[in-house]
This record gives sequence, C-alpha cells and structure tokens, in this order.
Amino acid sequence: MKKKVRVLDKEFEVSIPSSMIQARIEELAKELNKDMKGTRPVFLGILNGSFMFASDLFKKINFEAQISFLKLASYQGTSTTGTVKQLIGLNQDIEGQHVIILEDIVDTGITLETIIRQLSGYQPASIKIMTLLYKPEVCKQDIKLDYIGFSVPNDFIIGYGLDYNGFGRNLEDIYTLVVS
Ligand code: IMP
Ligand code: MG
Repeated sequence: MKKKVRVLDKEFEVSIPSSMIQARIEELAKELNKDMKGTRPVFLGILNGSFMFASDLFKKINFEAQISFLKLASYQGTSTTGTVKQLIGLNQDIEGQHVIILEDIVDTGITLETIIRQLSGYQPASIKIMTLLYKPEVCKQDIKLDYIGFSVPNDFIIGYGLDYNGFGRNLEDIYTLVVS
C-alpha cells in the first residue's frame, strides 16, 4: 500500500519518496561540484516552489557560491498585453556572473522561458538550468535543461515545496494526485 495523504479536497499518493529525492540531489550536487568548480556562480532559486530543493542542494555544494531567490509576479498590463509577468527580487548585479537557476518543476516551460528572457537582459556570463522535476510530455518550449532531477508523467504532483492551492509544500515526499 502506497502512503496516502489528503490535502484540501483531494487525495494524493506517494510517487517519489524522500530517500529517492535526497539520493538524486546528492548526485546533482556531485555533477555541479565537478562542472562549476572555480566559477563562483550565483544560484537563483525560483520561489515559492524551489525553496526546499534549493536548501537541500545548496548544503551539498563544496565550491564558493552565492544564492538568492526570485519570484515571478503577475500584474495586469494594458488590455492588449494582458497579464504581464515580471521577475522580482533580483537585488544583486549578475552582469558577467555565472548563474544557475533552480526550479522545482518545468511543466509547459512558459515560466522558465520568461525567467531566462528577463535574466538575459542583465548580461550574465552564462545561465544554467537545474530543475528537480520535468514533465517532458507537456513542455513545448525549446529550452535546454542542463540538469534534471526526475522526468515525471503529466500528473499533478505536490510535496517537497510543490503545492495544491498553497498547501502540501511541507510534505517531505512527492505525491501524485489520485484520480478516482
Ligand atoms: P510552467 O510555466 O507550466 O512550466 O509551470 C511552472 C510552475 O507551475 C511551476 O514552477 C510550479 O510552480 C507550477 N506547477 C507546474 N506543474 C505543477 C504540479 O504538477 N504541481 C504543482 N505545481 C506545478
Ligand atoms: Mg515554481
């Protein structure tokens, strides 16, 4: 029997247990420790979803690095542009710096595409992408994901930072929605 949890009105069952998440993060950190050593990069975690992943990963980084957190905020643009998403929270100069974006999940890829476009304007030396989760069946954007934790099916998932209407982020395992 898989471990189940109820969040608000929905039922979820474990799909990636904490032990697997931690083992994978260990491997991802090892790759970064090899690839980015000596580049003094800045990690940029995308809030809210990536906070737990960023925390666990960053503890395992053994080279000099900085970390900061960004958020994509929506605001209403003019009637022609509709909702505009703007990157907020970038309070350090990344010009000429190596940047590693930390995402919780890449679904359609629209969020990430927006983030990369806006960050590129600050002229960093390079941008690498690390995402804990990736839904290959959904992603339509042509984005190079440099590091992927797990490729997952097109199901709704929560836990380990990911939420359902704001809840479920505190779960240490990742859970998939049970469709009844
Ligand atoms: P995208 O722009 O479609 O790639 O989706 C980006 C954001 O949607 C992610 O950073 C998550 O915050 C959220 N998201 C996408 N899929 C899921 C999911 O299965 N569960 C919870 N949040 C999700
Ligand atoms: Mg997110």
